[in-house]
Amino acid sequence: MEKQKTKIAVFVSGGGTNLQALIDAQKSGVLHSGEICLVISNSSKAYALTRARENGIEACAVVKKKLGSQEAFEAAVEAELTRHGIELIVLAGFLAILSPEFTKKYAGRIINIHPSLIPSFCGKGFYGLKVHEAALAYGVKVTGATVHYVNEIPDGGQIILQKAVEVEEGDTPESLQLRVMQQAEWKILPQAAELVSAKIQAEKEQER
Ligand code: GAR
Repeated sequence: MEKQKTKIAVFVSGGGTNLQALIDAQKSGVLHSGEICLVISNSSKAYALTRARENGIEACAVVKKKLGSQEAFEAAVEAELTRHGIELIVLAGFLAILSPEFTKKYAGRIINIHPSLIPSFCGKGFYGLKVHEAALAYGVKVTGATVHYVNEIPDGGQIILQKAVEVEEGDTPESLQLRVMQQAEWKILPQAAELVSAKIQAEKEQER
């Protein structure tokens, strides 16, 4: 019997270049043990939603402000996950915080990409360009990206993959962000999604 692919939901907030890397990895076969079945954005304006739909992936926005509370937001997200039978959540530029109740419920089933070498420049308040601003202000010569499991501590879960990237003379937060994406994020996120998808697939095979 053919192995069932791990059903993946990708959570996004903005441009979605990491989502694009996952879609490209699925097309090229780098990501083959899992299948992106759903994209959820916490903003209805995220361009990532368009990327998903253009690639035939179901996509929806779940907006906390409209729903009124974190509980209502997470209940709506969970309803979507259940409806699609999701087994793995990939946070790909998802800039909202998930509650400890949520992360506990999906322990071992949520991974996140962070644009630094954890434990540097991570945790509360470190997201997007702010991470690269902090790295340049500190004067580090090497930075990078990390994929890790998500637990109740922001950026505190077990590390899955990391990749280092050199800081160059004259870098701006924007130029550094782009180099970290190109040389690290867009490579290790699809690799980690494949690793964890294969692990979940193997666990399911054992149960059958
Ligand atoms: C990426 O650099 C990602 O690592 C970062 O936001 C950007 C989203 O870009 N995530 C965080 O900072 C999480 N703490 P994208 O929408 O083009 O993928």
